[in-house]
Amino acid sequence: MRAYKAKSVERIELPDREARERHLREAGHNVFNLDADAVFVDLLTDSGTGAMSDEQWAALHRGDESYAGSESFQNLEAAVEDVMGFSRIVPAHQGRGAENVLYGALVSEGEYVPNNTHFDTTRAHIVNAGGEPVDCPVESDPDDPFQGNLDTDAVRELASEVGAERIPAVVVTITNNSLAGQPVSIENLWEARTVANDLDARLVVDACRFAENAYFVAQREDEFEGESVASVAREQLSMADAVVMSGKKDGLTNVGGFVGVREGDDDLYEQARQRGILFEGFSTYGGMAGRDLEAMAVGLGEAVEEPYIESRVEQVAELGTLLEEVGVPIRTPTGGHAVYVDAGAFLPEIPREAFPGQALVCALYREGGVRAVELGELAFPGEERPQLVRLCLPRRTYFRDHLEHVAETFAAVAERREELPGYEVVDEPAMEELRHFSAELRPLA
Ligand code: F0G
Repeated sequence: MRAYKAKSVERIELPDREARERHLREAGHNVFNLDADAVFVDLLTDSGTGAMSDEQWAALHRGDESYAGSESFQNLEAAVEDVMGFSRIVPAHQGRGAENVLYGALVSEGEYVPNNTHFDTTRAHIVNAGGEPVDCPVESDPDDPFQGNLDTDAVRELASEVGAERIPAVVVTITNNSLAGQPVSIENLWEARTVANDLDARLVVDACRFAENAYFVAQREDEFEGESVASVAREQLSMADAVVMSGKKDGLTNVGGFVGVREGDDDLYEQARQRGILFEGFSTYGGMAGRDLEAMAVGLGEAVEEPYIESRVEQVAELGTLLEEVGVPIRTPTGGHAVYVDAGAFLPEIPREAFPGQALVCALYREGGVRAVELGELAFPGEERPQLVRLCLPRRTYFRDHLEHVAETFAAVAERREELPGYEVVDEPAMEELRHFSAELRPLA
């Protein structure tokens, strides 16, 4: 059951088929190039695209826009301490800004940084700081409740290969976005803590989706059964030396982020603070307006409210169930923020080189004005990864009718799946890693 009702709404419209075909052509068959008003149900991302509450909108008016010493910053600090247990933060304009601040301070040339799975921007900032990102996900099967976990043995192996002194930090991303939004257990976080101690490395948690992770822990980890999501949320971050946060996810805001550094780690805090001033803005706003600081202060508290977080995670599961009912192969159990479709299995006639994920993404837009995102050969060229398509739900935004529309769109696409063409890239930017954002494609004959 949704734990909110609409007070303010935005009109959306499904352009007719001819218009959708034209928009897709004009966008070079890349949905990142579509105008948002040509999209009916937008499942591109959950980042900054959710609805704020009336309390958050009210808080915007209290934004203190002072350059230094803003009261809104103090309110955000207090909220982060209350909800996440970190009393010292360096604010940033969004998650990747916080990553630049933290990893630039932590990582030096020739060092290695293991993570359960690096998100793209995390990977890029570690490379930018001269480091080598290493993915250490656990091997799991669909019955495992915590498929997002870090393989701590793999981290120890890495240390014995390269030398513990070359691992400045162990990172755990909760939930594991690059691994279908699967959660991480608190037991695994404690193991990560132990490894970090043994290697004399810092333990960093990418806490973007900390509330969703906490909900899964409260549901699935025996030791925490029956505990409130708010208390689990604090517990799971209590062993971290630092957190990086994109407020655009479980901060329930449209923009913002921060680095949290543990009390006593003065060296890291000071370095992060100076980098924050250099790249983000003075240490009491860091690229956010005072009103954004206020909105996030309120949003963090709402993210761990039981009725909200339950309806959030259950809505993702509901979309998964609707898709399974029409025979769509999805990753199960569904994660915290998105449903991941196995496009390779859905469109088995289209080989990897012809982008089955992108073929599905284009078909979903053409058929129903639904915007999804490809996470396969187009986004990760040359990597032998499964050909996935992510359907990511913005927070507090869509209703069951929209989810049903998505499932009906899939059913319509499935009926004509033999006719769907593969694609080829006709224009792409110099940096291959960024090609899915702006490449242009065309359907194969
Ligand atoms: N870390 C994780 C795990 C993320 O999912 C993201 C963003 C970031 C860091 C960077 O944060 O966007 O505020 O700069 N993920 C979005 C997504 C973009 O669609 O999954 P940001």
